[in-house]
Amino acid sequence: MAPYLSCFSPTCGSRYGLSEIVYSCGDCGSLLEVVNSFDDADPRQLKSLWQRRRTSLAPLDVSGVWRFREMLPFVTDTARIVTLPEGNTPLFDAPRAAQYAGLAGLQFKHQGYNPTASFKDNGMTAGVTQAAILGMRRVACVSTGNTSASLAAYAAASGMQAVIFLPAGNIAYGKLAQALEYGALTIQVEANFDQILGLVLELAAELGIYLLNSVNPFRIEGQKSIVIEMLEQRGWRVPDWIVLPGGNLGNISALGKGLRELHAAGLIDSLPRVAVVQAAGSAPFERLFREGGVLRAVRRPETLATAIRIGDPVSWRKAESEVKELSGVVESVTEQEIADAKAVIGRCGIGSEPASAATLAGIRKLVRAGTIEPDADVSAILTGHLLKDPDYVYRYHSGQLKTPSDEPIQSTFGNAPVTVPNDRAEIEELLLRSADQ
Ligand code: F0G
Repeated sequence: MAPYLSCFSPTCGSRYGLSEIVYSCGDCGSLLEVVNSFDDADPRQLKSLWQRRRTSLAPLDVSGVWRFREMLPFVTDTARIVTLPEGNTPLFDAPRAAQYAGLAGLQFKHQGYNPTASFKDNGMTAGVTQAAILGMRRVACVSTGNTSASLAAYAAASGMQAVIFLPAGNIAYGKLAQALEYGALTIQVEANFDQILGLVLELAAELGIYLLNSVNPFRIEGQKSIVIEMLEQRGWRVPDWIVLPGGNLGNISALGKGLRELHAAGLIDSLPRVAVVQAAGSAPFERLFREGGVLRAVRRPETLATAIRIGDPVSWRKAESEVKELSGVVESVTEQEIADAKAVIGRCGIGSEPASAATLAGIRKLVRAGTIEPDADVSAILTGHLLKDPDYVYRYHSGQLKTPSDEPIQSTFGNAPVTVPNDRAEIEELLLRSADQ
């Protein structure tokens, strides 16, 4: 059966063709998803095909998204694919971080090793490919940083114009720099992410601009490849837990869909549990799981983990359904917990941005609460790279980091630079003193 778009609400089920430009259901307003059928899949054959492609030099096989293109059957004309190439990100063992969390072992799937340094590239290659299939000339997104850099790069690579909307004053320079360099029309709006997204949804429809926020179901298709690649790297051994940060909740929606489809295709025979971690100042999804009912937005979301500074996550219904399906949990962590966890990940030789480090902080809390067993097999997704926001890192290590409400953050694992006079004896003395630290 050929893929089609379907309303995500089980009580509605309206269908749309793949070439329709729709982001939500015209009948009930819910988000849409691409429905694929893997009934005829031969799991053994797929696994060996994907393995063989790892030695191929063909541009699509070199991509860690399109190497798995049988799982993204919405593309029939592969000549339209826009790839940089993306994916192929490492899976690290992180013993120091495991010890900090109270676990015997812990793995990090590091999506910061992508062409624009975040997990957004896995989805953007698919989203921009769909824009190319549709013949779009302009693509747009609202972003806390990573999506904008990713969209700007893929639009540039494909010859489309990117229009990027950012919350003024709340964007890390590492990301703004990328958007500018890749030639995107960059518009800073004096509003927060949630407010801008509402506005851009209206404008995009009016002006014929293709919207590539995670409401776009084709981005979710690409983002599924993160979990596919992770499982392939693990020899298809399903972990007990997969842990990831949650903001607008596109990534957990993609992870859940990816796992459901791998299971349906017979590529895995069990499912992991999932944990979504939010920053305490921007945690509407965590509150939903604690209190039940419908999601109540956080009107003034705050966190130094700007990537997940989102109070009204647009994909919450999809995310809620995926988390429940996977017997998942949702946790929130403080600014101090995020900052310390980030430094601990750094001590493993792995650089991540604050939002990504929320995973380790959340795992530590969940182990202490007895939710995650100390001997559990846990994989966490690091969503973005350390170099997005060096200012945060410097402030933490030099004891100057403060929460959004101006409370000091302790630099528990601080590593401030040392300044010395140009004096050989003094430098030698310093080196001798620090030898066994
Ligand atoms: N981690 C990082 C590094 C992110 O950039 C984001 C989202 C998330 C986690 C949360 O993922 O929204 O799928 O739950 N960043 C978006 C952006 C909002 O504009 O770059 P989510």
